Amino acid sequence: MRDAIRALPGSRIREVANAGIGRDDVLAFWFGESDEVTPEPVRQAAAESLARGETFYSHNFGLPELRQAIAVYASALHRPLEAGRVAVTSSGVSALMLAMQMLLGSGDEVVAVVPVWPNLTAQPLILGASVRRVALRPHAGAWRLDLQELLSAVTPRTRMLLVNAPNNPTGWTLTRAEQEALLAHCRRTGTWIVADEVYERIYFGGTPAAPSFLDIAAPDDRLAVVQSFSKSFLMTGWRLGWLVLPNGAMEAAGKLLEFNSSCAPVFVQRGALAALAGADNFVPGLVARLQACRDRLVTGLQAMPGVTASSPPGGLYAFFRVEGEDDTLAFAKRLVAEQGLGLAPGSAFGPEGEGWLRWCFASRDPARLDQGLQRLAAGIRL
Ligand SMILES: Cc1ncc(COP(=O)(O)O)c(C=O)c1O
Repeated sequence: MRDAIRALPGSRIREVANAGIGRDDVLAFWFGESDEVTPEPVRQAAAESLARGETFYSHNFGLPELRQAIAVYASALHRPLEAGRVAVTSSGVSALMLAMQMLLGSGDEVVAVVPVWPNLTAQPLILGASVRRVALRPHAGAWRLDLQELLSAVTPRTRMLLVNAPNNPTGWTLTRAEQEALLAHCRRTGTWIVADEVYERIYFGGTPAAPSFLDIAAPDDRLAVVQSFSKSFLMTGWRLGWLVLPNGAMEAAGKLLEFNSSCAPVFVQRGALAALAGADNFVPGLVARLQACRDRLVTGLQAMPGVTASSPPGGLYAFFRVEGEDDTLAFAKRLVAEQGLGLAPGSAFGPEGEGWLRWCFASRDPARLDQGLQRLAAGIRL
C-alpha cells in the first residue's frame, strides 16, 4: 500500500455517525443531503429508459443530448458555453478527481481555501501533491476570505487553486470582485483554478445562481468547473455530475474518463435530461423551501444562549459554535449518545473548523429542525 494512502485521514462525520448506528431515534443532520426524494419526472424518465432496455455502455463524455442540455442550462445562467467543453461524470466527486488526475502529479503544489469538504483536500494527497491551506476566518459567525493572503499564497509554483464556493461547511461565497482578482492573478502565475460550484443554485442572494467563474472566464482560461446533479435536483444517490473544461483539455479528459468509469449509466443520464428540462419549475421551489429551513434553524440557534451562528448565503448548512465546546468531535458524539442528535463536527473539515458544528438544514419537514433544536438545547452545558 502506498504511504500516501495509508496516511489519509478517516471521515470524522462517519466516526460520529457510527456512534448512532442501529438507533432509529437519532435525528440525523450530519450528511449533506435532503430527506426529500428526487422529483417524480426524473425518476420516471430513468424508469422508462430501463424499460426500453438502455442498459449498455455509452459515450465517454456523456450522451450528446445531455451535454447539449447542460450547455444550454449553463449558458442561461452564465456566459455562452459550447457542449464540446462539457464532460459528464459519474458524480461531482469524480469530476473533481478527474480534474485532479489531469493536472496533478507527485510534488505539485495545490493551494486550497479551507475549511472545506474533506474530499477536496484528500484527492491531491492521493496523487502525491501537497496542499497549502488558506483559511477563511469567522467574524461574528460569518466566514470571510482574506483575499490578499490567498493571492500571496498563489505563486508561479502553484499548480492549482482549489476553491469551493458556496462553501461546504461554512456557506461562504466568493464575490464577483474576488473572483475577478483571483482569475487575473492565476492568469499571471499560470495556475489552474478548480472551482467546485456544486452549490451554485443553492444560493439565497436573490439571483438564480451564486457568482461563478463561468461568468467571467474566457473559453481558454485554465479553469475547471465542477458540477453535480446531487444538490440542485435532489439526486445524491444517482451519482451524476459534470466538468466544464477549456477545449484544449478535452482530449485528455476523454482518455481519463475511459480509464476511470468509461461512461455514466444511460438511464441515469435520461433522468438528468428530465431534471434539466424541469429545472425552471423545480429549482426555485427547492431553494425557497431550503431558505425557509435555513431561516428557521438559524433563528433558533441564535436564540440559544452560548451559541454563535450566522445566516449562510448559500449551501445546505448552518455552521455554528457552542461556547465551551472546543472539542466538537467529542461533543458531537455526546449529542448522539445522550440526546439522539446527529451533527457533523467542524474538525471533519480541517483543523480550521475545530470548535464548530455543521448542521444540514435540508429537511422536508421543518418541524424536525425544531425537534433537533430542543435536543441541542438539552445537550448544552452552560
Ligand atoms: C463541496 C462539495 N463538492 C462536491 C460534492 C460531491 O457531490 P456528488 O459527488 O454527490 O456529486 C459535495 C457533496 O457533498 C460537496 O459538498
